[in-house]
Amino acid sequence: MIQRRTVLKAGAAVTGALGSAGLLVPAVAGPAQATDLDPSTVPQFQQAMPVPGVVQPVCDLGLTSYYDMTLQEADAEILPGRLTRVRTFNGSFPGPVIKAVSGRRVVVRQTNRLSVPTSIHLHGGHVPQSSDGSPMDVITPGGGSKIYTYPNSQPHANLWFHDHTHHQESETVYRGLTGLYLLTDDVERNLNLPSGAYDVPIALRDARFDDSGQLVYTMGDFMKRQVLLANGKAWPYFEVAARKYRFRLFNTANLRFFTLQLSDGSAFQQIGSDGGLLEKPLDVTSVSLSPGERADIVVDFSRYAVGTRLILTNTGGLLPGDPVDQVGRVLQFRVTGAARDTSSVPSTLRTLPAAGSATVSRDFVLSMDETGATMDAFINGKSYDMDRIDTEIKYGATEIWTVRNANIYTPHNFHIHLVQFRVLERNGKPVTSGPESGLKDTVPLLPGETVKLQATFTGYEGTYVYHCHMFDHASMGMMANFRVSKSTAAPAT
Ligand code: C2O
Ligand code: CU
Repeated sequence: MIQRRTVLKAGAAVTGALGSAGLLVPAVAGPAQATDLDPSTVPQFQQAMPVPGVVQPVCDLGLTSYYDMTLQEADAEILPGRLTRVRTFNGSFPGPVIKAVSGRRVVVRQTNRLSVPTSIHLHGGHVPQSSDGSPMDVITPGGGSKIYTYPNSQPHANLWFHDHTHHQESETVYRGLTGLYLLTDDVERNLNLPSGAYDVPIALRDARFDDSGQLVYTMGDFMKRQVLLANGKAWPYFEVAARKYRFRLFNTANLRFFTLQLSDGSAFQQIGSDGGLLEKPLDVTSVSLSPGERADIVVDFSRYAVGTRLILTNTGGLLPGDPVDQVGRVLQFRVTGAARDTSSVPSTLRTLPAAGSATVSRDFVLSMDETGATMDAFINGKSYDMDRIDTEIKYGATEIWTVRNANIYTPHNFHIHLVQFRVLERNGKPVTSGPESGLKDTVPLLPGETVKLQATFTGYEGTYVYHCHMFDHASMGMMANFRVSKSTAAPAT
């Protein structure tokens, strides 16, 4: 690990592209590459957006479903007419979907046929440490395997899984190792939301290609990742009927923030976030997603004439000079016909569990070197050390964590394993409504921002991580360990 970091730093000629908009990360010039593919040469809206395939269990026994998955390389048609080598679960790009139900256990055997170690984390999952896919708990390459047990003792939520091998997750995720995990329960199923073919998960990300159509990974070069993918295709189209659709949006990008809108500026509803449905649907004209975050939305296409074409646009993370026709567009909706619609979005979706009252407060400061001199990133001034416990938590404690982004140019975000938390305040203002009022596991922090989060650490004892979910930053060290233990003395408040 140390070796790799040294190599990373030594190889990093930093261009120090700082100082314009607030969304910059230091740009790092990589080793000499084949020429970059010019993103403006990629034809848009030529490929249909696929719906990710659902993985079937190898067997269901009692209250457990067993899955067998293989981590392997595959070639995928991301750019029209070209093949790109990617890292996948079961050869699927976009990553496949596991469908799970609260109260039914899922057991997955992951066999690693890649050439790199992997550790598979269920993002947003409430799971024992042994199945958390922590950075230090890797599956060896070349055929090693590990069994992950997901109790699903938590309410419905749009979860996802991805590699978490420290210092390598950023590249492995970038090369494709992500999948979706849709956990449902009776609360969600008893609503009459759009379902079946009208309930579509969409994994969003960006990528950079060379002129032979292969992915180029250079840590921190988010500005060069100008090809946007929806469910694994560059700028696809998606045919819809003139009725309501539920879209479950996942930001699986390493660094890119998305702010999504319909090109006619019209309203839609946001019904859920990271940890499942909101209490009430929100009427919105945009949703913003930092890396790792999810938004569940309902778009009603019945207001459009058949033949209408609309673009899902992006205004998130755009820098001056960015090619707006590329990074400002995600996909095209084509309204192709009529369809019956008996679904509805009720005015009350769920009741959230009471937040409880906190007995412990802690402060966390996120920062990275913005001078460009190093590629170090910190939480409370320390880079990640897998052998160091940064935060000791008494099992069952409810805590308030105040998290601040101390950088002036670089956005970050903050993800905590094991728990779904509540956002109490953003920049000193109470969060009582809006998209952050539901259950969350990841929150954005623009430069200078502060959030106050509340979580209850219960269910499992063990060591877990919290980190910036801009994977390149986590790989640079913006991550720390917390340990939940019954024998920890409760810290004084
Ligand atoms: Cu989605 Cu620790 O990560
Ligand atoms: Cu960060």
